[in-house]
Amino acid sequence: VLVVADAGVADAARGAVAEEMGRLVDAARDRVAMHVVSPTEQGKSLETLQHVLLACARARLDRGDLVVALGGGIVGDVAGFAAATYRRGLRWVNCPTTLLSMVDASVGGKTGVNLAIGKDPRDPGSFDLLKNMVGAFHQPTLVVADCDVLASLPERVFRAGLGECVKHAMIAESVLGEGGRGERARLEARLPGVLAREAGAIADLVAWNVALKARVVEGDPFEEASDEAGGRALLNLGHTFGHAIEATVDGGLIEHGQAVALGLIAAAATSEALGLVDRGLVEETRRLVRAAGLETRAALGPISILMSAMGHDKKVIGGRRRLVLPTGREAARIVVDPREDAVAEGWRAIGASDADAGDEAALRVPARG
Ligand SMILES: NC(=O)c1ccc[n+]([C@@H]2O[C@H](COP(=O)([O-])OP(=O)(O)OC[C@H]3O[C@@H](n4cnc5c(N)ncnc54)[C@H](O)[C@@H]3O)[C@@H](O)[C@H]2O)c1
Repeated sequence: VLVVADAGVADAARGAVAEEMGRLVDAARDRVAMHVVSPTEQGKSLETLQHVLLACARARLDRGDLVVALGGGIVGDVAGFAAATYRRGLRWVNCPTTLLSMVDASVGGKTGVNLAIGKDPRDPGSFDLLKNMVGAFHQPTLVVADCDVLASLPERVFRAGLGECVKHAMIAESVLGEGGRGERARLEARLPGVLAREAGAIADLVAWNVALKARVVEGDPFEEASDEAGGRALLNLGHTFGHAIEATVDGGLIEHGQAVALGLIAAAATSEALGLVDRGLVEETRRLVRAAGLETRAALGPISILMSAMGHDKKVIGGRRRLVLPTGREAARIVVDPREDAVAEGWRAIGASDADAGDEAALRVPARG
């Protein structure tokens, strides 16, 4: 067994998991190796993957052995990808330790790393991080989410997980039909207890979100559904905006879930501009994001740079931009090539500026070294 552990998870928890895994798989204690990863989006890279693969080799894992991921979404994605590729695939167990990885990343078998491409100094619109561009579908054999481990999670990281919960509420009717209606209100009612870190409220939140995501994934395990059916792609609501934010703003400054929450507001504003939803959805979405303790605006820099970053998203097929946009309070669908001015309206709603990419305002995008 190789345990790939998040440096953010306390030593005691890491030791306990190593012990438990040794017991579960009936391996001698000395056959449980540990590899610790300090997770950052920059470090969610092919290089880190290689370190994990080398740890697999040093631990002499064979096809019957097991990789255990113990950590947030980054560690889960990298360890899962290592399990997918080492010796063409080992079984793996995912033990998510952040709220985001419990409610989202640990369900569905997507694994992978980011791809860093060089920034072109002559093109202010170029950027250097292609999120989750290399990866594989590789379902874990088991997912163990122990909500007690969230106690040590910094507030900012905890709240970021709520961004994905807001997203799930916003597609609930599309996924569950009639039963999904009213999910925004149900989430809003649950949020005070969750933010107060009440164990029962958190457990209920995790259970509902895992069930929703599992339902989506079961119906479309490899994201092959047609645009009309939506399928797994619906989970990308807010993500094309969110990924562009993460790609252009230094990853250390914005959490993935916070970027998604901003993306949800931008998606709602784009829908309003296209006339897909009634006026009022943007304000309602802002209110829900605020109730989750998340920011509703950020200093994002010029729209032109963000638009160009969106063009590199994985959801672009054959050069056409496919955006998941709300069509109701709890419903969404894929829109192909939405009007640029409507997308720009989305960016404006969360604080992006109309300044030219070459303007001084471009300097507001924190540069990466
Ligand atoms: N595979 C999927 O389907 C999927 C879905 C959503 C997101 N993701 C990916 O997940 C990543 C984001 O995951 P995340 O939000 O968990 O962030 P993360 O993995 O960066 O973890 C956030 C921080 O929390 C620390 N940490 C983890 N557990 C802790 C604990 N119990 N106590 C204290 N600190 C702890 C980590 O060390 C890190 O500093 C992104 O890279 C995103 O692309 C994947």
